[in-house]
Amino acid sequence: MAIIGKDIDLAIKLLNEGEVIGIPTETVYGLAGNALNTDAVAKIFEVKNRPSFDPLIIHTNSIERFKDYISEIDTRVYDLAEKFMPGPLTLLLPRKDIIPDLVTSGLENVAIRIPQHPLTLELLSQLDYPLAAPSANPFGYISPTNTTHVNNQLGDKIKYILDGGDCQVGIESTIVGFVDDEAVVYRKGGLSIEDIEGVVGKVNVIEHSSSNPLAPGMLKSHYAPKKQLILLDNKKAINSEGKKIGYLGFQHYHPDIPAENQLLLSPNGDFREAAKHLFAYMRQLDSMEVDRIYTELLPEKELGRAVNDRIKRATIKD
Ligand code: TXA
Ligand code: MG
Repeated sequence: MAIIGKDIDLAIKLLNEGEVIGIPTETVYGLAGNALNTDAVAKIFEVKNRPSFDPLIIHTNSIERFKDYISEIDTRVYDLAEKFMPGPLTLLLPRKDIIPDLVTSGLENVAIRIPQHPLTLELLSQLDYPLAAPSANPFGYISPTNTTHVNNQLGDKIKYILDGGDCQVGIESTIVGFVDDEAVVYRKGGLSIEDIEGVVGKVNVIEHSSSNPLAPGMLKSHYAPKKQLILLDNKKAINSEGKKIGYLGFQHYHPDIPAENQLLLSPNGDFREAAKHLFAYMRQLDSMEVDRIYTELLPEKELGRAVNDRIKRATIKD
């Protein structure tokens, strides 16, 4: 198992040696390595068992440092960055040659973000390179929101996990790119579309399907627990067929299922709280004595949209 601790000096030493380590962010834990060192980047793909056509996000600690990695940034993009960075926003921007092809899968744009987490911001401020970091989970499984999740799944492959406690946002960053001057949301996430539209006006939101995975790796089936997760329309009656049923609800328990087999994302109906709990509760239900898990969607607004996106992807097996 990996060592879990708050030792930034040790984290820096390992990263300088080309190792990959677990790092906290406000969204989910990342599996981080030196983005400018192709051996370290290759190790990230290997540890995650991730196909190399799926590009990585780079992380840095300030907008001033973007100029080292990005070839141009217009004022509208700058406004967005100023308003929401650090925070759960990732921008797709034209990369400089210093960023290796392996990081972007050869694409012209690199995904870049500034995580809102004091420990990781401190770490990044002491490095002279950005960190490439996908979510610290095996490819296709649910993202980790605490050190135990990371250690359970990748602990035998990495040496160190920097402990930043529970992730406060709980779902991945919102990915925004620009096509012909129009802002495009490629992945819904911890920053709401309403917030982004408040700065750049109407955005185009890409809905993913398995026949239309626009960005590499953005496959429809993703973020999935191991047990079958089934979406239930409007609290319909459940045909359990003799199986033990679990339930992941938003505010209210399902009347047909024993309460001890149910988890509620936010009894008060708070979208932020629901996002924060989503992945941890999926894992908890996955480890409970139930054969299958039913779930429901949240109202389709604010962070409810990102939560619904993850639930829909997790309910599909393909
Ligand atoms: O919140 C987050 O974004 C977390 C934390 C650790 O920062 N990271 C994360 O990384 O979710 P990952 O690798 O699990 O998801 C990144 C997504 C992938 O679907 C990838 O295809 C897309 O971003 N992506 C990365 N670089 C890209 C690029 N240059 N062009 C298009 N899509 C890109
Ligand atoms: Mg991921």
